[in-house]
Amino acid sequence: MKKVLVTGANGQLGKCLQDIVNQFQPTHYQFLFLNRSELDISNKELVESFFFSNKIDFCVNCAAYTAVDLAETEAEAAFKANADAVKYLAEECAEQEATLIQISTDYVFDGEKKQPYLPEDLTNPINVYGKSKLEGERWALGLNPKSIVIRTSWVYSPYGKNFYTTMLRLMAERDELNIVSDQIGKPTDARDLAQYIYDLILSQDSHYGIRNFSGNEVMSWYDFAKKIANENGFSTKINPIPTSQYPTPAKRPMWSVLK
Ligand SMILES: NC(=O)c1ccc[n+]([C@@H]2O[C@H](COP(=O)([O-])OP(=O)(O)OC[C@H]3O[C@@H](n4cnc5c(N)ncnc54)[C@H](OP(=O)(O)O)[C@@H]3O)[C@@H](O)[C@H]2O)c1
Repeated sequence: MKKVLVTGANGQLGKCLQDIVNQFQPTHYQFLFLNRSELDISNKELVESFFFSNKIDFCVNCAAYTAVDLAETEAEAAFKANADAVKYLAEECAEQEATLIQISTDYVFDGEKKQPYLPEDLTNPINVYGKSKLEGERWALGLNPKSIVIRTSWVYSPYGKNFYTTMLRLMAERDELNIVSDQIGKPTDARDLAQYIYDLILSQDSHYGIRNFSGNEVMSWYDFAKKIANENGFSTKINPIPTSQYPTPAKRPMWSVLK
């Protein structure tokens, strides 16, 4: 029986992975879904003690500090969860020869390339969140030879607070919305990413290193909002605006399409 630890089980990706495991009920694999209160991955002692008591074959790290704007003023918290904690997991996985599947982000790039980003492209994060996630990638790859870093982008799902659920709420409340139209990326359904991770585990894929996984369509937040309105039958008027009219504490890459 192979044991799979999934951290951050209450997040949108953690929940989508849980749905898939419940649906397929894999034999020969035991999944342990732990939320923050069950395993705080930024607590080194707790991580060590968990691995001391459990022999793990795969660790899927769905836990992260994902508040991109707040990270600008809470850098320490962001680095603790997105970098230090990955170090602890990678050390323990290396010790147990376990595969670490670390989820990362398009925000490790500055968005200047204007061509789809390849895994080997030069990183240059422009906000604290991106910097903390890049440091996490480096710990994962540097400490555990069996690490797979999956970079993804613009993740949405029916769970929690994300662009999709926020738009549904706002579209139900308002007749008109102004949405940024000059940031370009690829929305990724967390359910597709979860399925990809699930298949990767069951196929025992051993291509370690960095890879990309994102949705197929390149669009702006404005395009995405229009799509959400159309698919859910909202007649909300959606106006395109430039980023300059929607200032946020964290700078975002203007073009972060993953190949
Ligand atoms: N969302 C996106 O658009 C996006 C884009 C690119 C990449 N990603 C990456 O994709 C992965 C999954 O993201 P997501 O959207 O599913 O995030 P999410 O919904 O924000 O979930 C993250 C989960 O991590 C938990 N967590 C935070 N700190 C923790 C800690 N110290 N120990 C244990 N759990 C902790 C959170 O717990 P609480 O619920 O208690 O806060 C939350 O349940 C992350 O690595 C993220 O960086 C996300």
